[in-house]
Amino acid sequence: MTTIDPRDLRQAFGRFMTGVTIVTTVDPQGTPVGFTANSFSSVSLDPPLLLVCPGKFLSTFDHFASCDYFGVSVLAEGQEEVSNTFASFKGDRFARSPYRLAANGVPLIDGAVAQFSCKTRELVDAGDHGILLGQVETYNHRDGPGLGYSNGRYFSIGLERKAFETTQAPTLAGAIIEHEGKVYLEATSEGLRPPQIEIQDQSQLRGLLRSHLATAGYATQLGAAYSVFDSGQAHFVYILASLSEPPSRAGRLTAVPLNALADATFATPSITSMMSRFATESRQGDFSLYLGTAETGDVHRFSERT
Ligand SMILES: Cc1cc2nc3c(=O)[nH]c(=O)nc-3n(C[C@H](O)[C@H](O)[C@H](O)COP(=O)(O)O)c2cc1C
Repeated sequence: MTTIDPRDLRQAFGRFMTGVTIVTTVDPQGTPVGFTANSFSSVSLDPPLLLVCPGKFLSTFDHFASCDYFGVSVLAEGQEEVSNTFASFKGDRFARSPYRLAANGVPLIDGAVAQFSCKTRELVDAGDHGILLGQVETYNHRDGPGLGYSNGRYFSIGLERKAFETTQAPTLAGAIIEHEGKVYLEATSEGLRPPQIEIQDQSQLRGLLRSHLATAGYATQLGAAYSVFDSGQAHFVYILASLSEPPSRAGRLTAVPLNALADATFATPSITSMMSRFATESRQGDFSLYLGTAETGDVHRFSERT
């Protein structure tokens, strides 16, 4: 039997895209307790059953292992801070996140896209976690995208969709390729810029960008959209990328160390500000998505799991 590296297995599990939930109950004193969980699954419609997997490492594991009732709140897009609070804040998590008590006394988080109040059916022992199976007693849900989670990062379906809406042709699609502390950039007479191509059909954006880069000698994996803006002449979409193998020797891109990005000359002011944001965020391991025009826009934050 091959030995399994738990860190690598965790990464493999992390490739499964999930939503994010907050699982809640009350301790014997009636104080609300809760934790962030992406191990939620629907199980059965008749009877109505769901499950979540609390880890034995949780400070509140015993309360979940012995609770009669628990709640599950499915977080909405934009509730990253609630998720971070219930994953790592050590003080009163509920003081930071508005909630209300359901009929059987379990706290449910406000703003969620779905809330389930459950009666505990069974706790199955499962390695370093338990499988908490609950029978749904009451629930509610509303329209709107849920918060997504994949590869240790949050993502938002709503924002990704917006990023790829055809607002203007032509679209210039670029890749911010980072590999071993260096960013691979194209030198032009105006200055450096991420390698980019002009495309007509946005639905082909990722495929065309990846094959353009492969032809240039860079086998890439494309990640989340990083910056989306209109300059007046064109619609720009920049995507985070990593190399799936070291660059071939024929590659023409210039490898600039992350700590030298601040001194580099870029082709346009928008690329300069995007690359300076990239330099700061890659130091912090905390990426966000910029949506707007070349001058103004919003930054949507997607923190990495801590
Ligand atoms: C997106 C995400 C999903 C998580 N999923 C689970 C999970 O399914 N089960 C679990 O036990 N912990 C999970 N965690 C970790 C717990 O939320 C975290 O360890 C817990 O809140 C720590 O609480 P404590 O300080 O009370 O021990 C997850 C964390 C994040 C950020």
